[in-house]
Amino acid sequence: MALMRTTVNGSAVSTQIVDQNMSLLDLLRETLNLKGTKQGCGSGDCGACTVIVEDSVSEERPMAINACITPAAAMQNKHIITVEGLADRGSLHPVQQALIDHHGSQCGFCTPGFVMALAAHSLQPDAPKRCEREDIITAISGNLCRCTGYWPIVRAGMAACGVGEAAQLKHINLKLQERQSLSLERGEPEDDSGNVDRGYQIPQDEAWVGRSLARRASNKSRGPTIIAGATDAWVAVNQQLEQHETIVDISHIPSLRKITTKDGLLQIGSCATHTELLDYFTEAPHESTAIRELLTRFGSPQIRNRGTIGGNICGGSPIADWPPVLLALDGSVLLKNAEASRLVKLSDFFLGYRQTCLLPDEYLASVQFTVPADWSQLSFNKITKRYEDDISSVCAAIYLDYNGTIVQEARIAFGGIAANPIRLYSIEALLIGKPLSAIDHEMVKTKLGSVIDPINDVRASADYRL
Ligand code: FES
Ligand code: FES
Repeated sequence: MALMRTTVNGSAVSTQIVDQNMSLLDLLRETLNLKGTKQGCGSGDCGACTVIVEDSVSEERPMAINACITPAAAMQNKHIITVEGLADRGSLHPVQQALIDHHGSQCGFCTPGFVMALAAHSLQPDAPKRCEREDIITAISGNLCRCTGYWPIVRAGMAACGVGEAAQLKHINLKLQERQSLSLERGEPEDDSGNVDRGYQIPQDEAWVGRSLARRASNKSRGPTIIAGATDAWVAVNQQLEQHETIVDISHIPSLRKITTKDGLLQIGSCATHTELLDYFTEAPHESTAIRELLTRFGSPQIRNRGTIGGNICGGSPIADWPPVLLALDGSVLLKNAEASRLVKLSDFFLGYRQTCLLPDEYLASVQFTVPADWSQLSFNKITKRYEDDISSVCAAIYLDYNGTIVQEARIAFGGIAANPIRLYSIEALLIGKPLSAIDHEMVKTKLGSVIDPINDVRASADYRL
């Protein structure tokens, strides 16, 4: 049992976290009796549970997240805003008023989630510049409604988007002294004692993680489970497929969140979120169109705000979106334990279905690759049943480098066609040394059919994937 201090709708809350497997949604609805946040799917797909979170210590910008797949204990020192917190003494938030004015609500089950997704959008500093239809569709791309239809909701979002100051929730903003007192409470995890059976841990440095994993390796014990955004891990928790005795949340370790470039090598900390990476690649001077394409097709804003690049890789899923791009970029992962580190090519990292070469005492510290001289030679494509916020049936990344018109280097990587993400070396060999115009496409297709053996599952048949 651990004491968690957080702030909900502007009021300080201290609560005992009895079960480290509890979700934020259960904390809000069952412990704090805030029933406005709804449960739909419980797996990050519908957005009914959307709340806004800001970090009261680092003053990160307010972000929409899915409460159903967020561990309750991860909210230590955060400020959570639920739909109950939006109205100011009876005056509705502009987003709420716009949904009424534009007839954007019928059953009310999805409505709190849409309100929170649109409110999060209206709270962003650049919101007044992002009020076009496409911007609002992106903002609500993680939310499903099955009665009203989306156009009244989109119209409401466009109407409420540019209100500026009126969206800013001044009635519940944390005051400066409250932020300072919260920051003093955050320190070393209280359990650096050799005892591995202590619930939910939030270390502040990598050395702590190394020691904790070394104990696991030497005890041959099952825990701890390392998590960051937990957007994938918590689906399994909600479905009772996994319950964790000890959880180590590494997402607060500053060194694991850094994105740096040196001599053409881009190094991305494993806990960088997809939103942080989308910001990085949007602002980057180079034309990394394929990576932006990947990141805008990556789940919903709610998922991107918590999910991390390291989690996407370490899950070992055959349909994870980052691995094909990183394989096409010939990327590597830096694995560390308490004593040492090793750099492993991503092509050697995946061993089978959800199996990687991470040893019991290791964690993924960063991902790195050489920045291509010309980003336009990298392309990414993802096929899904639902365009927004869906897992791939198949995704592909292709990198081609030319000498004049001759293909000098080819790297072709796929997800969704085998037990783990793979490079297609024999297909690459068919392209190298020729101009693209001289490549026999029919022959490549025939060869492709002989080297891949896709699976049948709920997302697509093997034939379709082929
Ligand atoms: Fe559906 Fe959380 S309940 S995304
Ligand atoms: Fe959204 Fe009914 S109004 S599901």
